[in-house]
Amino acid sequence: MNSREFVSQEKSLELKHARITKLNHNKFVSKQNCCDKVIASKREIIMKLGSIATGEDFYDRKTECADLWRYLKNEHIVASGPRRLGKTSIINRLREEAIADGLLAELVDVQGIEGAQAFIDEIARHFPDASVTGYLGSLGKTAKSWLSAVKKIDFKGPGGLGGGIELQASASQNWIKSAVALQARLNEAPVLIFIDEFSVFLQKLLLSNQKEAEALLAWLRAWRVAPGLACRFIFTGSIGLNALLEKYGLSAQFNDCYEYPIGPFKLSAARDMIKDFALREQFLVDDTSANYLCERVGWLSPYYVCLLLDQTMQAARDRMDETPAPLAPSQKNLNTDDVDSGYERLLSARSRFKHWEQRLNRDLEGVDLAFAKLILKALAKNAIGLTQSQLKSRLAKLEQDPDLRAARLQTILNKLQDEGYICVPDTTGRVKFLSFLLRDYWSRNHA
Ligand SMILES: Nc1ncnc2c1ncn2[C@@H]1O[C@H](COP(=O)(O)OP(=O)(O)OP(=O)(O)O)[C@@H](O)[C@H]1O
Ligand SMILES: [Mg+2]
Repeated sequence: MNSREFVSQEKSLELKHARITKLNHNKFVSKQNCCDKVIASKREIIMKLGSIATGEDFYDRKTECADLWRYLKNEHIVASGPRRLGKTSIINRLREEAIADGLLAELVDVQGIEGAQAFIDEIARHFPDASVTGYLGSLGKTAKSWLSAVKKIDFKGPGGLGGGIELQASASQNWIKSAVALQARLNEAPVLIFIDEFSVFLQKLLLSNQKEAEALLAWLRAWRVAPGLACRFIFTGSIGLNALLEKYGLSAQFNDCYEYPIGPFKLSAARDMIKDFALREQFLVDDTSANYLCERVGWLSPYYVCLLLDQTMQAARDRMDETPAPLAPSQKNLNTDDVDSGYERLLSARSRFKHWEQRLNRDLEGVDLAFAKLILKALAKNAIGLTQSQLKSRLAKLEQDPDLRAARLQTILNKLQDEGYICVPDTTGRVKFLSFLLRDYWSRNHA
């Protein structure tokens, strides 16, 4: 299976789940509608369980959005974070905010794109000439103040293209013509170009045509560092861009960007989100149950919090259905037993987690793959994690030379950290699974 097929299979699994959840939800809605018409109109918006969170189902992330706006004034940004952390939702929120302020911003998803020409075409398609000229012709107040904040520009002519990009690519690379034209068109426009899943795109290009990938990176860098540039880029990626660039000796090609790691939800935000989303389904959640749900998720990725909340509500509905009518509670509460039942339901949906295994098999081979599997197996059995020297001794049978073993362990740990399997070592040097759900899944299926 190639990486494109893999990505689309991964997405289609997510969509399948989202559809099933929606179906269950719809069944529940129609059942409830019979007895409670008053609340029916509220039922449409609950929370997202796979697709990007927008509008009312986008929760919190206020600090991240404010940070990103602040940094964007002076920098281009690489915003990284493991799978399903809400990266696309955040940059989509920035796009919505930008548009509301009269700025021209587009989210360009390059995950399914192959080759430099298609990459340029995709950006160009999102910024058609008419909309860029129209925008430049009638810059609103916010766009003007944004423009003056991002650069001191004398707005007279198109100016030269920065970095001598013509030198960066050989004449045989036809895409460079489109690249130069795109750069000339967007160079002085205060547009926001949010490139989603750049690292996935780049990984494929590096594998299929390393020279082209290098030339594209060089051109992008030259564009970003060109003097007087008004546009701003955010690149996101769910596979670690740094590790990828390092592997190919290309780290310098992105050292001009500000690195902004996206983290999990804070406990208070996750708790508020649980209460809020549950209330949209007329469920009350007290602090104890909300805290307990967060505890069970571990690392507070909003995706896993929402998934567990959804399963918890389903468990609570089943519990209430099974309770004989005279004893049925008048109020709908979620309790910690519902959270435990929801957790079990979630873990039994193997396809939710399968892609974590498939990704390892796709990206690693030989001893590296064996190392990764053994490390995860060992960590799955240890809730408090293991130190690197404990891991090293467990890996002795795979690599006897201690220096080679230590080096390989470091490489694999970096990869597993970058992609959200495990956390960075804590103060005692221990590493462990980030998601308790994933840890328990691994422990049931691999350990
Ligand atoms: N701010 C948020 N508020 C509520 N739910 C969120 C938020 N961000 C993410 N989610 C949840 O996480 C899911 C995935 O979000 P999103 O697609 O933005 O993540 P991602 O990091 O881009 O994922 P991927 O790595 O697969 O591209 C959403 O369907 C939703 O359940
Ligand atoms: Mg995404």
